[in-house]
Amino acid sequence: MNRITIAIDGFSSTGKSTVAKRLAKSLGYIYVDSGAMYRAVTLYAMQNNLIQENCFDKELLITQLGAIKISFKFNEELGFAEVYLNEQNVEKQIRTLEVSQFVSQVATVSEVREQLVLQQQNFGKDKGVVMDGRDIGTVVFPDAELKIFMKASAEIRANRRYKELLERGHNLSYDDVLENVTTRDRIDSTREDSPLVKAEDAIEIDNSELTVEEQLETIKELVNHILSK
Ligand code: CDP
Repeated sequence: MNRITIAIDGFSSTGKSTVAKRLAKSLGYIYVDSGAMYRAVTLYAMQNNLIQENCFDKELLITQLGAIKISFKFNEELGFAEVYLNEQNVEKQIRTLEVSQFVSQVATVSEVREQLVLQQQNFGKDKGVVMDGRDIGTVVFPDAELKIFMKASAEIRANRRYKELLERGHNLSYDDVLENVTTRDRIDSTREDSPLVKAEDAIEIDNSELTVEEQLETIKELVNHILSK
């Protein structure tokens, strides 16, 4: 076996994508940010007034799913693939706290999940993929050779996300970020379809006190062990 499938799931803002991106690069694998796809559908719903505070027209969103095309294009300069919604680069727009405030509701809709999961499975059909999300090891790639489940305390995660958003020039409070992180954890873990749960065969990493390098080191050792079998 020389190429495997790596599924990285876990709670919001656990730094999955940072580790997944670096890991994919060092292995020469493709990296897919499945959360970006749910965020892009959410942005579409916001732009089309399908979701607002206390009002979400699920049925109308479902009828419009055929009009939502999500794709990734590799940006040489940045070294990773950016997400496009109907041919428009939305990489920056999908990372706002506003999108974060609606995304978990959109992600409860089975029809949305069905469409995105098919696309995600297609990205991984030739193996050699690192994908991060909430249901990658349980639903998207239940046969993945390596499954990682990331966790860290809510305060540490909120602090990481808060700093990241501040650096990107967003004006917001730490408390709002913490509130969003915990609300999304609750919705993601309790929804009926594909809830965030640790797959039985996933390896748990609590990265509260770990650097990115240390996490990478641990995961690369696991990969080498699998590849040497
Ligand atoms: O970066 P962060 O961990 O904050 O979130 P994300 O990976 O961008 O995912 C945003 C949201 O999309 C999550 O809170 C989930 O509601 C949803 N999601 C999902 O339901 N299933 C996935 N495989 C990935 C994300």
